[in-house]
Order: sequence, then structure tokens, then C-alpha cells
Amino acid sequence: MQVHRIAVIRGDGIGPELVDATVSVLDALTAGSAFSFEYHYVEAGAGAYARTGTACSAEDLDYIATTAEATLKGPVGLPDVRFPDGTEAGVLGGILRTGLDTYANIRPMLLLPGVGSCLAGRDLGDIDYVIVRENTEGLYASRGKGVGNRQAMADTLLATREGTTRVCRRAFEIAARRDGAPADGVRRVTCVDKANVLRSHAFFREIFFEVAAGYPDIAADCVHADAAAQELVLRPERFDVLVMENFLGDILSDLGGATVGGISLCPSGNLGDGAAYFEPIHGSAPSLAGKDVANPVGQLLAAGMLLDHLGLAEAGDRLRAAVAGVLADGTVRPERDGSVRGGAGAVAGAVIAALGVGTRA
Ligand code: IPM
Ligand code: MN
Repeated sequence: MQVHRIAVIRGDGIGPELVDATVSVLDALTAGSAFSFEYHYVEAGAGAYARTGTACSAEDLDYIATTAEATLKGPVGLPDVRFPDGTEAGVLGGILRTGLDTYANIRPMLLLPGVGSCLAGRDLGDIDYVIVRENTEGLYASRGKGVGNRQAMADTLLATREGTTRVCRRAFEIAARRDGAPADGVRRVTCVDKANVLRSHAFFREIFFEVAAGYPDIAADCVHADAAAQELVLRPERFDVLVMENFLGDILSDLGGATVGGISLCPSGNLGDGAAYFEPIHGSAPSLAGKDVANPVGQLLAAGMLLDHLGLAEAGDRLRAAVAGVLADGTVRPERDGSVRGGAGAVAGAVIAALGVGTRA
């Protein structure tokens, strides 16, 4: 029996509901399998910050970095828990993404059968791309460091050669394992930037094409970010893998999420060369917490990415198929506001039933 050590951050708002439901599905997947999970719960996020003055202790960060094989993280953040400068305390991006050097934030966008896209006439097969968001630098490298005073404030966008090279390489590696863009089956990585305006983005693009030269079998192109916002709505089928600076990736992944049924359905993986953690791309939605309406699909699919990362791709596929099944047959009907009838527990129950645990040959 292979026991995998997983750190778990339940998070804030709807986070604990989503994570508990997801853990119940992970446990169901272990039935009759040659693997199991040992969970180590880590208190981190805005609630932890409010209670203890730190969003994630050094000891817990160390566990995640050195002992856990991977981390399942719920959404974090509470609107009232803020630093004196007005930014949110406890959102963990600065601590986990930078602290673990998880430089690539992988955000698959896949329109599943039975899920209505906000784009009229779009259906399965049209939208299936991956946003690779640079995760440790870009504009968000300025997190907590902006300079100024009460009259003016400035944040700086950082793009380094090493940081840009490694995230672009990751994007090409992902493209190499996919089947290409839905429109033409061409494996393609698209660099999204404002290279026409910002020197840092022109630098990012230049390095992107240097990296692209090492992958002659994968098409490389670039689109300005404003045009990309339009293309992702009008012609999403032309995209396969997109790579971009942190801030652009944050924004365009929410846009992409809207086109595949809403961000409540979208998972992500924060990957570096060592530690990795998996979370939904949405926030903690405190207004939905405790009402049994929270939609755990993004969290469940994040667990699917975690399984892949552990080398349990078959279990990941079973989980994805079960989630797709309950969406396709209408057992689970997500609303665009992130809610779903019965909430996380009900969805997990439907997914576990769809897994057919115990009935497998
Ligand atoms: C995300 C989130 C975070 C981010 C927030 C909560 C700080 O929106 O993962 O996309 O902006 O990175
Ligand atoms: Mn975001």
C-alpha cells in the first residue's frame, strides 16, 4: 500500500465545505486501490491570520515544502481581514507561491458536456486550453512592497530572464503532452502580453521566442492581452496553451472561467520544481458559506490535478469522469453565482455514487 502524505488547507469562507467534501471523494477513490492518503491539516489563511497574527506559520510552510508530497488548498481570504495598507491579509499567494517557488500556475479551461457556456452556441470540444500563469513575479512581485505615500503609490512589474524562461518552458512541456487546439489540432503555445507598450512584456515575449526555438514541433505565436481578451470570447477554439505574466494570468483566467461555466468549476495547480499545491481559481465567497450551496467542482478538479501530480493519473481520470458524468446527466446543475443545490456535500455524494466505488471489477 502506497501512502501519500497530503497537506490540507481548509481555508476561509466556503473553503472548509469544499475541502471536506473533496477529501471524502479522495477517500472514496482509495477503496480497493493500492494507494491511500495521510492528511496533515494546516491552519492557514485569513482566519488563521486574524487568530494568530500569521497567515501560515513557518513550521507549516516547512511541512508543505519538505514533507508533504502535495497540498490541497481551499480558497482563502476574508474581506475584513486586511493589512493597514488596505491589501488583504491571509490570501497566501505571497507566502505559498513565492515561499514554495511554485512558479507556474496551471489553469485548465475545459467546457464540459451539460455545462452551459456564457458564449452562445459553444459546446464541448470548442473550449479546451490551459492558461499558464507566471506565479512568482510579474506585477504581483510588488505584493506588500509598493512604494509611495498618502499622495501617490507605485507598484513595479518584475520579469526576470530565469523566471520567464522557466515558465515558458513549462508551457511548452504542457503543450507537448496535449492534443493541440480544438480548432486545428495544432500544438501551440501563445504568449499573451502588452509587448507593444511595456518593456517588461517585450522582454517576456523575446524570451518566450528564445524558449520556443527549443520546441520546433510546437507552434508559437503571440497575441496582445487586450486582443486576447476578445479572442478568448470569440475564438476560444484556436487556443491550446497560453503563457503570460502573473497579473494578466489572474485576470484572463477568470475571463476563461466565465466561458466554461463559471470560475466555481475551474481548478489550478501551483507547480515549481519541488513543492506543489492545488486549489480552485475562485475566492472564498464568504456570503455563500454555511448555507449548503457551495459548488465544489473547482476544488474536486483541483484534487484531480493533485492525483496526476502524485502519479495517480488513473485515479485522476476516474475523478474527472465522475465529475463530468454528474454534470452531463444533470445530477449537478451549477449556477453561475457559484452555488449549487445541496452544496458541496451533496455534490460529493453524487460524485462518489458516480465513481461506483466497490462495484469496480
Ligand atoms: C487567484 C486569486 C488570488 C490571486 C487572490 C486571492 C490573491 O485571485 O488565485 O487567482 O490574485 O492570485
Ligand atoms: Mn484570481
